Amino acid sequence: MTPTPPPFPVTRPRRLRQSAAWRRLVGETRLHPAQLVLPMFVRENADAPLPIGSMPGVQQHSLESFRRELQRAAAAGIGGVMLFGVPEQKDAVGSGATDPDGILNVATRIAADEVGDALVVQTDLCLDEFTDHGHCGVLDARGEVDNDATLARYRDMALAQAAAGSQLLGLSGMMDGQVAVIRAALDEAGFTRVALLAYAAKYASAFYGPFREAVQSSLRGDRRTYQLDPGNRREGALEVALDVAEGADIVMVKPAMSYLDVLADAAASSPVPVWAYQVSGEYAMIEAAAAHGWIDRERAIDESLQSIVRAGADAVLTYWALEAAERWAR
Ligand code: PBG
Repeated sequence: MTPTPPPFPVTRPRRLRQSAAWRRLVGETRLHPAQLVLPMFVRENADAPLPIGSMPGVQQHSLESFRRELQRAAAAGIGGVMLFGVPEQKDAVGSGATDPDGILNVATRIAADEVGDALVVQTDLCLDEFTDHGHCGVLDARGEVDNDATLARYRDMALAQAAAGSQLLGLSGMMDGQVAVIRAALDEAGFTRVALLAYAAKYASAFYGPFREAVQSSLRGDRRTYQLDPGNRREGALEVALDVAEGADIVMVKPAMSYLDVLADAAASSPVPVWAYQVSGEYAMIEAAAAHGWIDRERAIDESLQSIVRAGADAVLTYWALEAAERWAR
């Protein structure tokens, strides 16, 4: 029951807002570098890092620039890195994803060796970076994504990533049953310590646009037969419940800022940590508006992160992870 407020002017909420010291003391949401995860793109056979036009400040790394950035991430005290590969060759089944010498598995071995004690090394487990049609799975004769045939590819991809030293597999493909199948395969192979981050509620979003450029994916069609309809809140809760039941160690909501209600639902019901992915389009929007001088860039970044944490995210994947962690430490 809402208490009846005492008569004016006894209730003066401004008392606690009157100075920076007060605001700091009564702040309800605290941001810390440890709760940030940096997504990173590593490009096969790159001599030098390449900028991504629609994501100013983000690069496709060469192995050399990747190593430098990993050291910077460890020094900044962020929670971890989420790795994506940009392979040179793509094919119908995404062969590069399961090749131990494929770029993502090579990058994972480097990260595990060099910063595996300081950071949680995480890998995107999905086929879209590796397929020539750009879908997250393999296609059936009608050209539709075949759920169960895709699970067999994910199983092999999970084993390759675990063997390369990934500590947390980011299951982002939205195939039914993917968490259970991958958990069983890992356990059977002895990888019981490898954890699963389930992109439980991943929506078919326009905000992934710049990511396509980042991994040079030319998607044929769209992902609406496997990613969630943006209007569906209850279905987000169902996906979270299913992934927890299948053995997810952490569940994620993605994108973040347009889905804060789904995130708050997950935070209220999930027995495991709940993360959110502030995706490429969310990044690009703030960068573009700031570049025009239309918003205060740093305030907008911090406000966006604060909103995501306020809604219930225990950690956030964000392309600003390094910048924010370094700035907050100053
Ligand atoms: C799947 C994957 C995607 C993103 C993360 N993992 C692409 C998609 O599902 O369309 C998008 C991340 C972003 O937009 O920042 N490999």
